[in-house]
Amino acid sequence: MRRKPLFAASPSSFLPSRRALLVAGAVMAAGASLPGFPLAAGAAPGTRRIPSSGEAVPAVGLGTWITFNVGNDPLLLERSARVMEAFFAGGGRVIDSSPMYGSSQATLGYGFDRLGRPEGLFAADKVWTSSQREGPAQMARSRRAWKVPRFSLMQVHNLRGWEAHLPMLLEKKAAGEIGYVGITTSEGRRHGLFEEIMARETLDAVQVTYNPLDREVEERILPLAAERGTAVIVNRPFRQGALTRRLEGEKLPDFAAEIGASSWAQLILKFILAHPAVTVVIPATTRPEHASENMAASGGPLPDAAMRERISAAIGGL
Ligand SMILES: NC(=O)c1ccc[n+]([C@@H]2O[C@H](COP(=O)([O-])OP(=O)(O)OC[C@H]3O[C@@H](n4cnc5c(N)ncnc54)[C@H](OP(=O)(O)O)[C@@H]3O)[C@@H](O)[C@H]2O)c1
Repeated sequence: MRRKPLFAASPSSFLPSRRALLVAGAVMAAGASLPGFPLAAGAAPGTRRIPSSGEAVPAVGLGTWITFNVGNDPLLLERSARVMEAFFAGGGRVIDSSPMYGSSQATLGYGFDRLGRPEGLFAADKVWTSSQREGPAQMARSRRAWKVPRFSLMQVHNLRGWEAHLPMLLEKKAAGEIGYVGITTSEGRRHGLFEEIMARETLDAVQVTYNPLDREVEERILPLAAERGTAVIVNRPFRQGALTRRLEGEKLPDFAAEIGASSWAQLILKFILAHPAVTVVIPATTRPEHASENMAASGGPLPDAAMRERISAAIGGL
């Protein structure tokens, strides 16, 4: 089954349909007022600036681990393309993947073939090998799988081989072959070493786990990122779905309406985005309607400090 693509499938042009423009417009309009929220000067609602460059990026991105590892199954490939379509229609641009994620990179390539690449696509990938020699070849393979001319951000996945890869990545950045350099971890792993690297190296971005129940990064990593001018990408916002599954069927607290959150997923994303050090959160999904719902969370008001505690307590208590 081939559905009509939402965007013209041309690698160099990006022609959003009337529907896409309407959806994106609604998302942006919803974010028109953010009382008290410290948006960087000039950043449009629903976007954040990368501190090292000032480039604005949409604050909700798309993860691909497991959800996009669909092999050659035509139905699942098409489903993934529909997720990308909904994500782009909602104004999404930041996509995160890794050579560790099975066929996810090739699934993205399939989606770009079907939909075209949106203007301003922010392609974030990772180098994931302990071999210094293998790093550049792996990155070249990843780029071919994604079918993109260049990665916006290249991260050292889980710090694997970081001593060897970081100088190589910084050289590639200086040569204009990649846009930004970063490191990742998740679920609190190796935070001590992570922090040391953050303090010592010049990094554009770090990627860590953060959500209303996993808040360790609030202690040192998020403040350090703010101090060092490092962008923060948040992974596992829903604990790989364990959190959203646990909350399914539970009544949303009445205060959620005050910040325009109509689901637990939106409440969690708004909790994350309200931390001033956070640049982008990258939920993963297999469902187009969830991609739209997640994108819409970046619009409208965000919780203040007191409401963030209420969100965390409400979720922790269930
Ligand atoms: N070390 C690292 O570098 C590292 C580690 C972990 C993750 N990551 C990155 O972070 C991304 C996100 O983390 P994750 O994949 O672990 O999972 P996650 O985003 O925490 O959770 C994904 C799950 O949430 C569900 N979900 C998404 N939107 C929803 C919504 N609106 N309502 C209800 N359920 C929803 C999805 O189910 P449905 O399919 O039903 O929507 C899916 O099962 C990864 O994909 C990857 O790109 C990086």
